[in-house]
Amino acid sequence: MKAIQLHGFEGPGSARLVDIDRPKRGANEILIEVKASGINYADALQTYGKYPTFGKEVPFTLGFEAAGIVRELGPGVTNVKIGDPVAAAVSSGGYAEYALAAGAAVIPLPSGLSFAEAAALPIQGMSAYTMLKYAVMPVAPSSVLVQAAAGGVGLFLVQLARHFGIGKVIALASSSEKLQLAKTLGADESINYTEADWPDQVRRATDGRGVDVVLQMSTGQVGKESFKLAAQGGRIVIFGAENYHDSINTEQVRQLIWQNQTIAGFAFPALSPIQIAESQPLFMDLVRAGKLRILAEHVFPLADAAVAIEMLLSRKTMGKVVLRP
Ligand SMILES: NC(=O)c1ccc[n+]([C@@H]2O[C@H](COP(=O)([O-])OP(=O)(O)OC[C@H]3O[C@@H](n4cnc5c(N)ncnc54)[C@H](OP(=O)(O)O)[C@@H]3O)[C@@H](O)[C@H]2O)c1
Repeated sequence: MKAIQLHGFEGPGSARLVDIDRPKRGANEILIEVKASGINYADALQTYGKYPTFGKEVPFTLGFEAAGIVRELGPGVTNVKIGDPVAAAVSSGGYAEYALAAGAAVIPLPSGLSFAEAAALPIQGMSAYTMLKYAVMPVAPSSVLVQAAAGGVGLFLVQLARHFGIGKVIALASSSEKLQLAKTLGADESINYTEADWPDQVRRATDGRGVDVVLQMSTGQVGKESFKLAAQGGRIVIFGAENYHDSINTEQVRQLIWQNQTIAGFAFPALSPIQIAESQPLFMDLVRAGKLRILAEHVFPLADAAVAIEMLLSRKTMGKVVLRP
């Protein structure tokens, strides 16, 4: 079968199309004929060696997300049958014509959803849902700051914040087109963080208080400024760590102490199976009810994986980016 394997850590160019054997299914596993492989920011980081490979050595097949059709079922799998359309988070191997998934990780797909849309659900959609459920709730904050609000996770966060009853959603992004999209999908305020005065715009949008919850994936200057925008008693949830060269500095610690703030980390892969099992049906209810718009317009042939990852990194994408094997 065709697959995209990572052969080194020199960036997206290290991702190469190869012919390899189909993976062999074990007990409690499902073999999926992949129709859409989801690209995640983590894949881009992985091509530079900036993301854990979870013990795998190069070459290995990239890809944490796959949507397609169940072709084989291992003993012990009871939640789907052969021929069913499904999506799944996989520990690797999503960028291929066939991928293995644990039976418990598989999401049966409702009708009316394209495979490209479905590929956004297992990681980006579920990460956004569980981040809000476990790192932000149970008390709905009166405001939340969403960075990269038109990205894969960002668009879900903007829409799901509404579902969780969060008061004001302030979307940040780097272009007017992205900001317009975030606004259309429910953001109350959309602010371009390439403008020098963007932190003041956020302060004005919160009557000078700052935001109750900062969802922090960005680093560098945007990350530092966002940190300062947390309100008295607020929370900073860090879920992306690229370029976090500095440890938390003294000024930030003083801010946390004197403003009674908390700082939290969030990683979807580190949730317990129970947390995922209790969240997935609730999230899928929203998808099934058509309450979430899924944007999956960037579709590339499998062979163009490197081009697709470069496009994600060039900030030219909105919503989901997928490969079609
Ligand atoms: N902790 C977890 O469980 C978890 C799970 C999933 C994803 N994540 C993290 O969530 C973030 C979003 O992931 P995603 O897969 O949905 O990707 P994504 O947001 O679709 O990624 C592309 C967007 O990221 C923004 N961006 C910010 N800084 C950037 C930079 N230095 N270079 C390129 N783009 C930059 C750009 O939006 P603008 O142009 O608007 O800035 C760009 O369009 C990533 O940091 C990822 O690692 C964490």
